[in-house]
Amino acid sequence: MTENIYIPTDIVDKSSKYQSLIPQIKALVEGEKDIIANLSNIMSALKYGMDFFWVGCYFVKDNELVLGPFQGPVACTRIAFGKGVCGTSWKEKKTIIVPDVNKFPGHIACSSDSKSEIVLPVFNSNKDVALVLDIDSANLNTFDAIDQQYLEEIVQLIESLL
Ligand code: SME
Repeated sequence: MTENIYIPTDIVDKSSKYQSLIPQIKALVEGEKDIIANLSNIMSALKYGMDFFWVGCYFVKDNELVLGPFQGPVACTRIAFGKGVCGTSWKEKKTIIVPDVNKFPGHIACSSDSKSEIVLPVFNSNKDVALVLDIDSANLNTFDAIDQQYLEEIVQLIESLL
């Protein structure tokens, strides 16, 4: 039986939150081999641990991105190569931080409540993008280099589970 994710309420700065959360996420997936089960719990831990608006992943399938495990409001199911923030992260094989989604050309608005986002590519052992991790915030300017640093640690964990 897994325990709930617990971030002490006196932790307010986000580096400390990630530092508390990441070992808990590692423990959560330990001993489980099923990727959907693991991704589902990782998305939940990230959403509720960090209090994000939407956290989910899109798998590369037949040259499209297809919605995978997520937490938050319903989302677009398919995204084309190079389209939106997710499709751009896939195409450019890099993390993209968008401080204001309304200023990102071609942004795909699944929800008008999403104001800023970060998308990180997750690579398979052939160095191809296998999926992207998409995190949305209901506020502008939420994500910076600190989020990128810790979320890339979570990406490495996901890569080790693929
Ligand atoms: N914002 C994304 C689409 C996915 S939703 O945010 C869940 C994009 O432009 O790629």
